[in-house]
Amino acid sequence: MSRPILIAPSILAADFANFGAVCETVEAQGADWIHVDVMDGHFVPNLTFGPAMVAALRPHVKTCMDVHLMISPVDPYIEAFAEAGADRLTAHVEAGPHLHRTLQAIAGAGCKAGVALNPATPVESVHDILDMVDLICVMTVNPGFGGQKLIPSALPKIARLRAMIGDRPIRIEIDGGVDPATAGLVAAAGGDVLVAGSAVFRGGSVGAPDAWGENIRAIRQAAEAEV
Ligand code: DX5
Ligand code: ZN
Repeated sequence: MSRPILIAPSILAADFANFGAVCETVEAQGADWIHVDVMDGHFVPNLTFGPAMVAALRPHVKTCMDVHLMISPVDPYIEAFAEAGADRLTAHVEAGPHLHRTLQAIAGAGCKAGVALNPATPVESVHDILDMVDLICVMTVNPGFGGQKLIPSALPKIARLRAMIGDRPIRIEIDGGVDPATAGLVAAAGGDVLVAGSAVFRGGSVGAPDAWGENIRAIRQAAEAEV
């Protein structure tokens, strides 16, 4: 295995009434990061939660709280999410006209900075900010909902991005439709942080979490076999 694979369960697919226990339990079952999907009902056609939820989760997350901001505008909320305790803030290329300014603001607020690409957004759109991020999130579904099927054209796109990154220390995060059947494909193409919602939280519960651990191991094994 040449690249370590990280698994980042998305709590979007978990019990909204029990997120604190969900985070602690899924970390105990092998999650590397906790992926938190923030949606505004405007940039994407769904609503989830804001900085108050991130602050409430903070004491329950020991690993990395990976906050995916599907909101536009994004700049006015960066400070609030940083103060809430996010470790990483990932903003979309499409969220505003000044990606460079957004990434400066994230770093200035003390968070690790990531950038996300929608399925129709070319990899070239991040070419000139590569030195400002250590993670690029490739959306492999249209953002807004869990449980969608991976878009196959994303696979060559991931490979193009991996080639463009070269030897820079930048992780490629894959978000959408990752399960044991697709994990090997996205890892082979160049992905190394695999977000998975429905494929992790399928079956099992806080009271019976073994299924979550088995699901994480199945995704990790399928990915590790290809890197
Ligand atoms: C989609 C979100 C994803 C989502 C993935 O807009 O960004 O993180 O939760 O869900 P699955 O793994 O079910 O495709
Ligand atoms: Zn996400």
